[in-house]
Amino acid sequence: RRIVVLNGPNLNLLGTREPHIYGTATLADVEELCAGRAAAHGLEVSCRQSNHEGELVDALQEAGADPECVGAVLNAGAYTHTSIALHDAVKATGLRLVEVHLSNPHAREPFRHTSFLSPVAEMVVAGAGIDGYGYAVEHLATTPGPRAE
Ligand code: DQA
Repeated sequence: RRIVVLNGPNLNLLGTREPHIYGTATLADVEELCAGRAAAHGLEVSCRQSNHEGELVDALQEAGADPECVGAVLNAGAYTHTSIALHDAVKATGLRLVEVHLSNPHAREPFRHTSFLSPVAEMVVAGAGIDGYGYAVEHLATTPGPRAE
């Protein structure tokens, strides 16, 4: 069984992208952290990053259709604040979702205060830096969801 870890636009630049906001860890560090945390629970991770909204929709649909997938950890970057398509993909598939943000969008510009994902997320982690991904994986691994029975 596996957890899908999805990162959206500009998160491939982690490490050099506004490090005062997002820190100096890289996307590879994030994925390694997730893999380690999942492995502690006997789970695998499948990691994907895309700058394209449709590819993230595809990834959510694939995760939702995969009976081996426990749930998804998604940092949708700026699409968080704009994407009805990502919202719909989660709803359509019934996928368990944990929404992650490195920063706390609520403490930032007003255009980051709305999330189209929070209404379809089981849990939201924001402002914990890369540790947030670990908390998200931990949650999916240890909390039985609708698919666990
Ligand atoms: C982010 C917050 C978003 O507002 C922003 O567009 C990002 C990263 C975060 O991880 O803090 O790209 O999702």
